[in-house]
Amino acid sequence: QVALLDIDICGPSIPKIMGLEGEQVHQSGSGWSPVYVEENLGVMSVGFLLSSPDDAVIWRGPKKNGLIKQFLRDVDWGEVDYLIVDTPPGTSDEHLSIVQYLSATHIDGAVIVTTPQEISLQDVRKEINFCHKVKLPIIGVVENMSGFVCPKCKKESQIFPPTTGGAEKMCQNLNVSLLGKVPLDPQIGRSCDRGQSFLSEAPDSPATLSYRNIIQ
Ligand SMILES: Nc1ncnc2c1ncn2[C@@H]1O[C@H](COP(=O)(O)OP(=O)(O)OP(=O)(O)O)[C@@H](O)[C@H]1O
Ligand SMILES: [Mg+2]
Repeated sequence: QVALLDIDICGPSIPKIMGLEGEQVHQSGSGWSPVYVEENLGVMSVGFLLSSPDDAVIWRGPKKNGLIKQFLRDVDWGEVDYLIVDTPPGTSDEHLSIVQYLSATHIDGAVIVTTPQEISLQDVRKEINFCHKVKLPIIGVVENMSGFVCPKCKKESQIFPPTTGGAEKMCQNLNVSLLGKVPLDPQIGRSCDRGQSFLSEAPDSPATLSYRNIIQ
């Protein structure tokens, strides 16, 4: 039983990626009900509370923190084995709140996603630092958009060159584990936009194999 909680309040993309755009949360006696993708996968996002996907949520920190608290306290998640929280980029209100509100539950840890170029690694080093500061364990780092194989000529190129050694070097330097690398694949973008599972649509692709290795 998996709960997926989107705390990217200003840019909630989980409803679209999970194929749940246009869904609304239902209020029941025991609180808000998550929206279910399958029987064992419930989702909650501010996206379900907006009247249009283009609506902007223009809130300062305290209001965001209030909603995150409501998502944890007032949603009838039922019995769950895993709670997966998708955060926005950065080290701001959302990150501080979730770590604080879940502190008593002993969070397993953070999975941090980067791309190979230095500009992205620079931000991710700050996020790793944040985790250390708030004593949040780091499960590992994923390098996304790592290489691209041209579907026409089959030649591999680095769209985002790992100018300073990529996630691999950073992980060595900072002593965190690299969970794996996922290549760029236009089909991932297509599946996300259609709200379909890339893993079932392209089960034999190199990117699916990477995702599966990372999960294991
Ligand atoms: N490896 C990939 N190959 C091709 N497209 C990708 C890949 N990874 C992500 N994308 C595309 O980029 C979109 C955004 O990815 P994702 O939601 O993981 O980014 P994010 O870092 O969470 O962004 P945000 O900062 O908006 O939260 C995906 O919906 C997909 O269209
Ligand atoms: Mg995101």
